[in-house]
Amino acid sequence: MKSLQSSLTPSPPQVLPEGDQASPLDLAVNPGCNLRLFKAGETIFREGDEADKAYIIESGYVEIFVGSGEEAIQLNVLGPGDIFGEMGIVDASPRSASVKAIGPCRCMVILASQIVERIDASSPIVRLMIAMALHRNRAFNTYLRAYSKSAHLGLPSPALTERSYTKSQQYQTILDSIKLESDLQNAVANHELRLFYQPLVDLNQKNVVGFESLLRWQSPTRGTVSPYQFISLAEETSLIVPIGFWILEQACTDLKRFEHRLAQMGQQQRQLFVSVNISVRQFQEPGFFEQLMALTQRHGVGPQQLKLEVTERVFLDEVEAIATINQCRAAGFHVSLDDFGTGYSSLNYLERCEIDSLKIDQSFIQKLCTSERAKILVGSIIEIARRLGLPTVAEGIETAEQRAILQALGCEVGQGYLFSQPIAFADAIALL
Ligand code: CMP
Ligand code: MG
Repeated sequence: MKSLQSSLTPSPPQVLPEGDQASPLDLAVNPGCNLRLFKAGETIFREGDEADKAYIIESGYVEIFVGSGEEAIQLNVLGPGDIFGEMGIVDASPRSASVKAIGPCRCMVILASQIVERIDASSPIVRLMIAMALHRNRAFNTYLRAYSKSAHLGLPSPALTERSYTKSQQYQTILDSIKLESDLQNAVANHELRLFYQPLVDLNQKNVVGFESLLRWQSPTRGTVSPYQFISLAEETSLIVPIGFWILEQACTDLKRFEHRLAQMGQQQRQLFVSVNISVRQFQEPGFFEQLMALTQRHGVGPQQLKLEVTERVFLDEVEAIATINQCRAAGFHVSLDDFGTGYSSLNYLERCEIDSLKIDQSFIQKLCTSERAKILVGSIIEIARRLGLPTVAEGIETAEQRAILQALGCEVGQGYLFSQPIAFADAIALL
C-alpha cells in the first residue's frame, strides 16, 4: 500500500505511534450495545458500503485507505479519540474510504440517528458548511483513487470535478435561506421593514381600544415577504433581537403620533395602547427589561400604553420568564399571553405567574360556528380567564356570527378581518 504522502510527495514511511495499543484483555470485554471490538487486520468497512454508524476509537489504531491491493493509498492512520465513519452517516452517502483495524481496536459506536437528528435541527448555514466540507473530502478521495490507477495520465484536479450537490434541491433551499438571511440583515438598515397595525375593538362599546403592531417586510427585490417566512428565520438566527428593538422604537414613535392625532381631535383623555409581539429569544436576552425601560422613557411613552404579547413558549425557561414578566409588570407594562391554547400548553404557569390578559388563538375562533367542541373550549378559556380576573381578546374574528357568540360568552375585546385587516400607519390614523 502507498501512503498518501509517499504517493504524492516522498516522505518517511508511516510509523505507528507507540503504546496505547488495545490489550488482548480488551477483546474479552462484552461488546455491549455501543462498544465494538475489532481484531488486528479486520476490515471494519469498505468504500462504497452503505453507512449506518460512526465510531470513536477508544484504544487501538485504524488505517483509512482508498483503492485496493497494490494500488491502495493510505489516507490516514487514526487513533484514540479520533472519529471515523461520520461522513457516510452525516449525509447518508456510501463510505468514502475503507477502514481496517491495524491492531486490536476498541471503538464506541455512534448510531446514525444520534447524529442526523442533531444536524437536521441545526441552521441551514451549518448544514451547508458540513455538506461542502464532506463533498470536498469525498472529491479528494475519488481523485486519489483514480490517481492511484493512472498517475501518469494527469487527472483533472478535484476542483474541476462535478459539484453535483450544488444542483440538488436541498442545496438550493439552503442557499435561498442564506440569501434571505443576508437580505433580512440589510432590511433594517435600508428601512425596508414596516409596522402595520390591526385594530383591537371593544366588543361591547364597539370602539377601537388599541392596535397590535405587526411586522411587514417590503423588499425591493423580493416584494412583500411573508412574515411566516422571515420571522421564523429571524428567530432562528437571533436577528430578531435587533429587529425586535427596531419594532419597539417604531411602535413608541407611532404611539406618540396616535396620541397627537387624538389630541387634535380633542380626545386627549382617550387611552389607546399598542401591542408588540415579543419573541422568546428577545425576552430571554439579558438586559431586555433595562433596554425596554430606557427606550420607552426616551420616547415619553408610559408603560401602560404598551402591551407586550408573549407566547406560552416563553415559559420553556419558566424561572427566567416569570422573573422578566414580573419585572415588566412591576414597572407598569401590560403582559398579554398570545396564541393561548396552542403550542406549549400547560396551565401550570398560569398559577405561578400573573399576567394581564389572554389572547385566544384564532384557530379556535375560526371553528366557533361549526364545532361545538371549539365553542366549549373558548367558553371555558373565557371562564378561566374571568375567574382569574383577566380580560380575553379573541384573535381572527371574521364574521358577525363569531363576534356575537364571543360577546355572549363574555369575551371583552376582538381582533380580525371583520373589523379590519392589518393596515399601514397612515390608514390606522385615519381609522381613528
Ligand atoms: P465515511 O465516508 O463514512 O467512511 C470512511 C471514513 O473514513 C470517513 O467516513 C471518514 O471518517 C474517514 N476518512 C475519509 N477520508 C479521510 C481522510 N482523508 N483522512 C482521514 N479520514 C478520512
Ligand atoms: Mg400577537
